[in-house]
Amino acid sequence: MIILGIETSCDETAAAIVVDGTTILSSEVSSQVKVHHPYGGVVPELASRKHIEAIVPIVSAAIQSSDVNLKQIDGIAVTQGPGLIGSLLVGFSFAKAYAFALDIPWVGVNHLEGHINSVFLESDPPPFPFVSLLVSGGHTSLYYVTAHLEAKLMGQTRDDAAGEAYDKVAKMLGLGSPGGNIIDDLAAKGDPNRIVFPRTYLDKQGFDFSFSGIKTAVNRYIQKYSDDYKNRIPDIAAGFQASVVEVLTFKVIQAALERGCGHVAIVGGVAANNGLRQRVTRAAKENGLQVHIPSVRLCGDNAAMIAAAGYHHLKAGRVSTMDMDVFSRSQ
Ligand code: KG4
Ligand code: ZN
Repeated sequence: MIILGIETSCDETAAAIVVDGTTILSSEVSSQVKVHHPYGGVVPELASRKHIEAIVPIVSAAIQSSDVNLKQIDGIAVTQGPGLIGSLLVGFSFAKAYAFALDIPWVGVNHLEGHINSVFLESDPPPFPFVSLLVSGGHTSLYYVTAHLEAKLMGQTRDDAAGEAYDKVAKMLGLGSPGGNIIDDLAAKGDPNRIVFPRTYLDKQGFDFSFSGIKTAVNRYIQKYSDDYKNRIPDIAAGFQASVVEVLTFKVIQAALERGCGHVAIVGGVAANNGLRQRVTRAAKENGLQVHIPSVRLCGDNAAMIAAAGYHHLKAGRVSTMDMDVFSRSQ
């Protein structure tokens, strides 16, 4: 089954052609990072306008580079939510119209289901059940995954998402936005033990997270050393990253051990983090677990993961209808 995936939930306009939820024929992503950069965060109104400009060229590029013709596309999968309403509406309305014109089925996909299914686009996917840590700009959640579209929430952040903490700390340090990868690069140059920030485990037996405390701790450090903190930015980045990575790693390993499953997955934009990838890989090995982290291009928002999840809906005969609408938050 050849699926056209479309993703416009935030600031990336993306389209992909994927076969049977596993094989990527093409995956195009147009990022708006430069557009929002001067504002220090995503401006929703600008985001929707940019999606409108990009959607047709990006879908065309995905189809062209996949070498399939329009008649070969069996269905369309499009992000329905959660995300920015104005942004979601661009991809969602486009998908409705395109499916109608091609006379093929289409389905709205939950963006988080997309991230969870991103591991199935790699050559070594986990067997069910497995524990998946979804870490992105909007979410930090642990799931017990028993099937492609069956994920039980084990815990989630009570305040900021991990990616949001990265972005806010980057902003405080004057590094620009989004700043996750900038902090990641700087952390590699700093000493993680020179400035020790708190680790927020909450209940060590539980699987909820909290990242607002570490953000405040970094802010306090900056205030306290306002004269010379700029000389210690790599150490601040390394100390901050060590704190976030330690807690994320501890919880995902604990979750797998508690559930007795031998496989863990890390997905979402923050799964691109080098410190997290290395630490989780090491901890998994020490605990006899196997870890699955998609390649970096599949960690951030993309449409291949939407096509991968959508494939399982369409295969089960679950199709969307024209009266359906987007949603901003998960229920
Ligand atoms: O999954 P994603 O592209 O969008 C959402 O669904 O939110 O994740 C974006 C988030 C941003 O907060 C960004 O700063 C973060 O992922 N990110 C990283 C890295 N690359 C992207 N965070 C830490 N380290 C990275 N290397
Ligand atoms: Zn995402």
